[in-house]
Amino acid sequence: MTKMPVERIILIGYRGTGKTSVARLLAARLGYEWVDADDYLERRAGLTVREIFQQEGETGFRDREEKVLAELCGRANLVLATGGGAILRASNRVRLREAGLVIWLKADAETIWSRLQADSTTVDRRPALTSFGGVAEIRQLLSVREPLYQECGEVAIDTIGRNPQEIATIIQQELVARASP
Ligand code: S3P
Repeated sequence: MTKMPVERIILIGYRGTGKTSVARLLAARLGYEWVDADDYLERRAGLTVREIFQQEGETGFRDREEKVLAELCGRANLVLATGGGAILRASNRVRLREAGLVIWLKADAETIWSRLQADSTTVDRRPALTSFGGVAEIRQLLSVREPLYQECGEVAIDTIGRNPQEIATIIQQELVARASP
């Protein structure tokens, strides 16, 4: 018996692991819609993530994020790129797992740091998350978050040395394997 196709592919992982680029590519290949949860949240709020952090603090942002994820998990044929901290709330982890195939895009702190420095949108779009800053912040947050990414993700893909096309291909192979009888 052929299994049902996966209705939603959900990408989790730290900033700079390629979630948005992979979501865009994968959706085009599958003929699915793709949404970046942060972009969607910003359009809805009429504010940037940075402004929301400034005005409402991280808790205000996380409340908005939880609502947006709940809404987006209702859409079918979707590739969803989540924000790096989406896995912090247990309610989100459960919801994402129930909604579809959750894929954790992995990288180590040094690789993430060099990717973020090369990304010109980092300063505008990415508020500091701790007082450490730089690679120390990434190391500190990864130590807290990696068990949560692990718990939420059904599949983990190492992004080091792989471009978004290659990562999208690995995900497609995973989907084919899952659809086989
Ligand atoms: C965050 C990551 C960001 C954004 C917000 C908080 C985090 O998303 O949701 O700045 O806590 O790691 P990206 O992973 O898309 O940069």
